Amino acid sequence: MKDILSPESITCNLETRFIGQRVLYYPSLASTNEVAKEKARRGAVAGTVVVAGEQTAGKGRRQRVWLSPEGSIALSVILYPGLGCLPPLIMLASLAVVRSIEAVTALKPQVKWPNDVLINTRKVSGILIESEVRGDAVDYAVIGIGVNVNLRISDFPEIVPTATSLSDELARDVSRLDLIRRLLVEVETLYLALLSKGPIYEAWRDSLVTLGKEVHVESGDATYDGIAESVARDGSLLLRRPDGGLSRIVAGDVTLRHRV
Ligand code: BTN
Repeated sequence: MKDILSPESITCNLETRFIGQRVLYYPSLASTNEVAKEKARRGAVAGTVVVAGEQTAGKGRRQRVWLSPEGSIALSVILYPGLGCLPPLIMLASLAVVRSIEAVTALKPQVKWPNDVLINTRKVSGILIESEVRGDAVDYAVIGIGVNVNLRISDFPEIVPTATSLSDELARDVSRLDLIRRLLVEVETLYLALLSKGPIYEAWRDSLVTLGKEVHVESGDATYDGIAESVARDGSLLLRRPDGGLSRIVAGDVTLRHRV
């Protein structure tokens, strides 16, 4: 499917108050997060979205590369939240991806802590949140979202073992335009809920595939093995170790021991 992405097609009658009302579209660029951060430093209006047809140097978490060729979604949303809203942005972004994929396709994605979105145990979407904080003040936050939409994963051997795409799952293409527009609506709905102290944490916790599972976690230089028991309100993972103790892990990468 060759869908036409443009600021006009994305914003036309978009049912949001501010997110996605201003869209900067680039057919090809290095990284939407990098451009969004630059725009945020120059005072871009809240809710500005940077969208790329393809990224040539997409960034993943922990300095990894994120592949986003034509056919995928790569976008970054600029926000100016308070400090207390920064940790829940991770929850918000993964929930927004889950809900928009559910709405546009019949698929049922799940979240692997902290914010990988999986379908049938394989990663379909990754989220990279970057922010600049000075003292107690957040200068800006950028929510970067990548979704494998219309990609034949077998064309990308390096991600074959772990990744999937919507088109591979459905055996048909999916409109990137519909998915982007829905994603922006879901991000705004959840962001407004977050500002009015809505139940984002509970919804995110309930969408986690990780809880109750035996996991291996890499966090900085440390590794942990155990059962993912629960998540705290700040988003950290509570891991029951084999010695019976509980570890609280603020950030990291989880491997599920047994694929389900
Ligand atoms: C991860 O799972 O490691 C996070 C991947 C995040 C990728 C998105 S694509 C849009 C935005 N721009 C980037 O360079 N990265 C994020």
